[in-house]
Amino acid sequence: MTKLQPHERIFVALDTTDLTKALDLANALSGHVGGIKLGKEFFTACGPEGVQAVTNCGMLVFLDLKFHDIPNTVAAAIRASLLFSPYMVNVHACGGEMMMRAAAQSAGEAGQDRPLVLGVTVLTSMDESDLKGTGIESSVSDQVLRLASLSQFSGLDGVVCSAREVEDLREHLGESFKLVVPGIRPEWAQSNDQKRIVTPAAAVAIGADYLVIGRPITQSNNPVEAADKIAAEIAAGV
Ligand code: C5P
Repeated sequence: MTKLQPHERIFVALDTTDLTKALDLANALSGHVGGIKLGKEFFTACGPEGVQAVTNCGMLVFLDLKFHDIPNTVAAAIRASLLFSPYMVNVHACGGEMMMRAAAQSAGEAGQDRPLVLGVTVLTSMDESDLKGTGIESSVSDQVLRLASLSQFSGLDGVVCSAREVEDLREHLGESFKLVVPGIRPEWAQSNDQKRIVTPAAAVAIGADYLVIGRPITQSNNPVEAADKIAAEIAAGV
């Protein structure tokens, strides 16, 4: 695989219900970032047409719908998403091996345009006591590694993980397993509600492939300038 340019590592989270706002940002950022992440908020409000409209801006799309259902239903949902040619899609790894294998198989139906399929391990909003409440006695880090390993074994291409987990996962799962990391903040940006934040350059230095960055770009007075500044910081390793 050819090495990614610094800006290609950035996926901008367009967490909005406003299609016009999303399209204005996607058009402005085209060529300045690697792609756009669209999640449940956008999808529920703007629908498949909204996803198609963002795709039509020429942007790669990470469709962050975190599917979790029986294998047949997840496979069908992934198959339906192929209509937009997403670059990345994701499923909850706790849906298990058969569900993930079904997801990977559906994605494969797109041939060389197949999206990368990522697993979501433990949501970063959950701590050990939340896990315990669901009957899981492991530490968060053990559970993340277990689910990431299962994702790889089940044929997924990578996982979404916090920066805290990157080094451990990279060490255990190898160089080609994709690690997609949110919770990123440049030094000059506000942390907002993110608690365990890491700078863009630090995340890449420890082994992240793609960075999901929302408000430092979308809430900036000049989103293009903010994106360019982040890409320059990644390039310089600062
Ligand atoms: O604005 P901000 O950079 O915090 O946006 C981060 C994006 O990544 C949001 O869409 C958020 O839902 C998502 N995300 C996250 N932490 C996770 C998983 C996803 O912030 N653990």
